[in-house]
Amino acid sequence: MLVRLVGRYIRGHVWAIIAVAVLQTVSTIASLALPSLNADIIDSGVVTGDIGYIWRTGGWMLLISAVQVAAAIISAYLGSRIAMSVGRDARREMFETVQSFSSLEVSRFSPPSLITRSTNDVQQVQMVTLMTLTIIIQAPITLVGGVFMALRQDTQLSWILVAVIPVLALVIGFLATRLGPLFRTMQERLDNVSRVLREHLSGVRVIRAFVMQKEEKERFATANQELRDVSLKTGMLMALMFPAVTFIVMAAQVAVIYFGGHRVEAGMEVGALTAFISYLMQIFMSVMMGMMMFMIVPRAEVCADRIMEVLTTTPAISDPESGKVLDGGRATFALNGVSFRFPGAERDVLSNITLELAPGTTTAVIGSTGSGKTTLVNLLPRLIDPTKGTVTANGVPLSKLSLSVRERVALVPQRAHLFAGTVASNLRLGAPGATDDQLWEALDIAQAREFITDLDAEVESGGKNFSGGQRQRLTIARALVRRADLTVFDDSFSALDYATDAKLRASLDEFLADAAVLIVGQRVATIRGADTIVVLDAGEIVGTGTHESLMATCPTYEEIVLSQLTAEEAA
Ligand SMILES: Nc1ncnc2c1ncn2[C@@H]1O[C@H](COP(=O)(O)OP(=O)(O)OP(=O)(O)O)[C@@H](O)[C@H]1O
Ligand SMILES: [Mg+2]
Repeated sequence: MLVRLVGRYIRGHVWAIIAVAVLQTVSTIASLALPSLNADIIDSGVVTGDIGYIWRTGGWMLLISAVQVAAAIISAYLGSRIAMSVGRDARREMFETVQSFSSLEVSRFSPPSLITRSTNDVQQVQMVTLMTLTIIIQAPITLVGGVFMALRQDTQLSWILVAVIPVLALVIGFLATRLGPLFRTMQERLDNVSRVLREHLSGVRVIRAFVMQKEEKERFATANQELRDVSLKTGMLMALMFPAVTFIVMAAQVAVIYFGGHRVEAGMEVGALTAFISYLMQIFMSVMMGMMMFMIVPRAEVCADRIMEVLTTTPAISDPESGKVLDGGRATFALNGVSFRFPGAERDVLSNITLELAPGTTTAVIGSTGSGKTTLVNLLPRLIDPTKGTVTANGVPLSKLSLSVRERVALVPQRAHLFAGTVASNLRLGAPGATDDQLWEALDIAQAREFITDLDAEVESGGKNFSGGQRQRLTIARALVRRADLTVFDDSFSALDYATDAKLRASLDEFLADAAVLIVGQRVATIRGADTIVVLDAGEIVGTGTHESLMATCPTYEEIVLSQLTAEEAA
């Protein structure tokens, strides 16, 4: 997974990677040459007192060091650039994929997890890419070259290498296999902490109002503690690794010095022994670097899995390949025998709904909480697809039309949401080309003129600097700016007082006279003027007609009306 993921993004950097490889090779060979030259200085210069030789060889060493440093710096720079672009591209693709998700996929992953996956997980992959680029060439060359050079200095001492390397590998392998599963748990618990934190922050006022701080604290503490536990376990294992490896390496060094001493007595040159020790250190460094890879690769592997899981999810709703574009003129939307069931749910939220929304008509849907009104509304701009039946525009199923059919529908969602920016930028979401006059007109009809005096007034993220009712009126204006074929109001008048509600509906009728309007509401006063009223009960249509006809024929409707009006008013 990790290889596949990084491979996707690294293709554009072939030349940079080749450059990194060449520079790494140069720098590694240079560092391998230095101890041998040093040995020469000691054996042929210091021991014999040949000052000129020391100067010459020293000069070479200086030159080689300079080359080594330059190559290392440039390759580190290029390596970082590649790794950072991999991270950026992965984040971009994550973002684009998530954009194409319908609400079903978003809730399947949960927003906090999507955030962690796009940030922390990508970062881990980015880090491992960087490490790989710096180590993959350097470590093997140092290992092989180091062993070769050490053997050239003295073959008799090399049994120490043969003995120590397997021990090192064994220790590292043992720890690495334990770390993998722990890292997976760690990422999951990190998700969990973000989830609790997010929920807490968005509901902070409710929590205060219900004096739930204590429970919330405990909930967070549990999630936090769980993350700590698993991090501690991984930390302990990783902490164990370094002393263990250092111990083995140092023991090897002691052995080299001890047995090397005997070898010098037997005629080995002192310079050769120092060189041997240097090579030993270089070899172990390369093994240590390889070991670092063993530590971070399992974690990055987990992260790559989690990223790929998002990237390979096909959204339930996508733009059809050769989707037709609806031709001009006001379209009629219709639901034909539509049922809907949430994935994994036991029963249908909507069953067998048939409904036509023709231009110039106003249809209202009324029903108790949870009767499926919002679900019905979400079917029209194809935010969800029906499980059975079809939703059509001018008789063509939406699934056969290009997704641009969404432009034909203006939806005022039940939960008013505004974006950070200005009033104008929010309204123009509905129609990017709208003029200032058109924006003012929409604000007028939405009864928002009384609190908006400037189109460039600031809107905070989520519209926090407006009251609930004000927010609702701005989202109504946003939908009106679009002048769509079908405008849907999902319980959009609930936060308005009766007088404003009445004024708003009066001007709406005129403004949207040639378009279809669907009003979802719980308040009888809001919907009683509609041409057709549909009564929804537990996902089924239990009555269709005008206010008067329903009063006579539909007991559910009558019940709703009587609960809100006095019998006299209702008549
Ligand atoms: N994402 C979801 N997953 C599973 N079930 C859901 C989901 N969203 C809604 N439901 C269920 O679908 C049913 C209908 O919900 P819906 O939001 O359409 O009701 P509603 O009529 O709009 O209610 P209200 O008047 O409170 O807005 C509810 O019983 C709810 O439990
Ligand atoms: Mg609803």
